[in-house]
Amino acid sequence: MEKRKYKVGIVTLSDKGSRGEREDLSGPKIQELLPDDQYEVVSYRILPDEQAAIEKELCRLADEEHCALVLTTGGTGFSMRDVTPEATLAVADRVAPGIAEAIRAYSLTITPRAMLSRAASAIRKQTLIVNLPGSPKAVAESLTYILSSLGHGLDILL
Ligand code: MTE
Repeated sequence: MEKRKYKVGIVTLSDKGSRGEREDLSGPKIQELLPDDQYEVVSYRILPDEQAAIEKELCRLADEEHCALVLTTGGTGFSMRDVTPEATLAVADRVAPGIAEAIRAYSLTITPRAMLSRAASAIRKQTLIVNLPGSPKAVAESLTYILSSLGHGLDILL
């Protein structure tokens, strides 16, 4: 019997990207890295760095789209506009800090600037939300590292 695919929502947080002033390469990079025999991307949106709008989108992906996994990219740094972790934790039922910790720990072996990511990882109902940093390079490094362990977590969450 064919195994069920995990439904995935992708959200890119970028003021410039949402205004069409910068091409989003990070959202498509996430999609490219997810093995398509295991993951089905059902939604991909680019939003400005507005906490209320981000919270609404995370709730929609969890409560209406019933995504197993939501991957965000961007808005995790120190700029005053960076509010992705705050939006993620505001809609969370439970924290799952190990994933963000693992990404930071691994990323620190690549660049000390990984300490500047405030990314969070958390669970809302049966949806795991993971914040990834904003650049396509950081997305690739982070997602590749966690991918082999994600499926086990998602299976337990179902
Ligand atoms: N993590 C990895 N793996 N590779 C990187 O190049 N860049 C860092 C960090 N995490 C980086 C990384 C930098 S420079 C910043 S400022 C923070 O992620 C936050 O990025 P964001 O504001 O684009 O989300």
